[in-house]
Amino acid sequence: MWPGVAAAQAGSPAGPVPVEHLQTRRAALLERLGQGIVIVRSADLRSIEDEGPPPQDSDFRQDNDFFYLTGLETSGSWLVLIARDSAPDEEILYVPPRDTLTERWTGPSLGPGPEVRALSGIDDVRSSAGAEEHIRARVRSMQASGSAGVYFRRGSREGHMGFFRDLVFDERTSRVPVTVHDLRPFLASSRLVKDADELTRLRRAIAITVEAQREAMRIAKPGMWEYEIEAAIEYTFRRLGAERVGFPSIVGAGLNATILHYDKSRGQTAPDDLIVMDVGAEFGYYTADVTRTIPVSGRFTERQRALYTLVLETQQAAIDSVRPGITVRDLNRIARAHLRRHSGTLCAGGSCERFFVHGLSHWLGMDVHDVGDYATPLAPGMVLTIEPGLYLPAERIGIRIEDDILVTATGAEILSEGAPRTPDAIEALMRGP
Ligand code: GLY
Ligand code: MN
Ligand code: MN
Repeated sequence: MWPGVAAAQAGSPAGPVPVEHLQTRRAALLERLGQGIVIVRSADLRSIEDEGPPPQDSDFRQDNDFFYLTGLETSGSWLVLIARDSAPDEEILYVPPRDTLTERWTGPSLGPGPEVRALSGIDDVRSSAGAEEHIRARVRSMQASGSAGVYFRRGSREGHMGFFRDLVFDERTSRVPVTVHDLRPFLASSRLVKDADELTRLRRAIAITVEAQREAMRIAKPGMWEYEIEAAIEYTFRRLGAERVGFPSIVGAGLNATILHYDKSRGQTAPDDLIVMDVGAEFGYYTADVTRTIPVSGRFTERQRALYTLVLETQQAAIDSVRPGITVRDLNRIARAHLRRHSGTLCAGGSCERFFVHGLSHWLGMDVHDVGDYATPLAPGMVLTIEPGLYLPAERIGIRIEDDILVTATGAEILSEGAPRTPDAIEALMRGP
């Protein structure tokens, strides 16, 4: 679509983010802020070896906020947005100049130029050489003219906190001369409601993950090692165009199924084991998060089936309650009440609730535990997981069922429903045609 070096990025399986979405996202952020200067730093290349340059980064991944606002996969870059009440907003991108020697090793990259303009929709694209001085001068002049504060991610893990600290701390007077705001809550509330392009990416990530779950059900056999099942899942991810896992795959059999984030995949399955498979493909910077629990033999025992059914019905009670206006806290209460009321005699000594040892839900998007305030009432376009579980190490039984749910105007759409969920459907797929 774009000639020249931009093809390197536009050719990623997900393709570029349509410019009109990027423009809308930036405008919505600036509208929310009213006034001020926003500074977002891209991710940087990591060198996997001591020698260099050029660095070899075998799996560069752009910073989520930078990608959300620019659609660019350039490292070493800055995005500066200036919101004003009484004048047009301003957008500036600083991108490293292209370097022939580096490109000989790692291929063409985007530099300051027309391709970056076309991909991002930002007209003012500059070289990143000297960017920090420019940004500092800009912040100082805004401060001198008495205009509003500076927004960046406070306390974030990236390596540029020193720059941000210098930006706002005046050494001569030992005081903080500009008003600093944390950008994160503002961006988080934007990212919470997915736009059409985000939903396309998420749906694809989830469809790939569903196919990987189905493949695992087809191949699982007693005696297999957890890593063999993990390999079949991750092979399916890559075969279908996912660029990476959204989080380390969790494939745990027997006792390992009771370890919530077990990701070593070193165990061998025994004939009566349940296997928890909690996995997510990442596609175009969006990740799925789907868990299925299967009997490696292809048949649930009576007790496994009874406990599984309790988890399934608990999950369904929560999914049936999803609608605009309700909160994640409400859903958690509904699920726990269901579990308590329907435990019967399954868990000696009372309700099975004490074996449900984690939260019910989290937001899903660019991060597997995506950004956003959990007190926010659900609204159409939000995506969350619903994932009850029961963990009984004394019986070597761990069960988790996790689906990805899109909030609609009237309720919920289960985006991951293509992965069999009922005991009968799981057994049927495992039996084969
Ligand atoms: N896959 C991690 C989680 O479900 O939270
Ligand atoms: Mn999850
Ligand atoms: Mn999960």
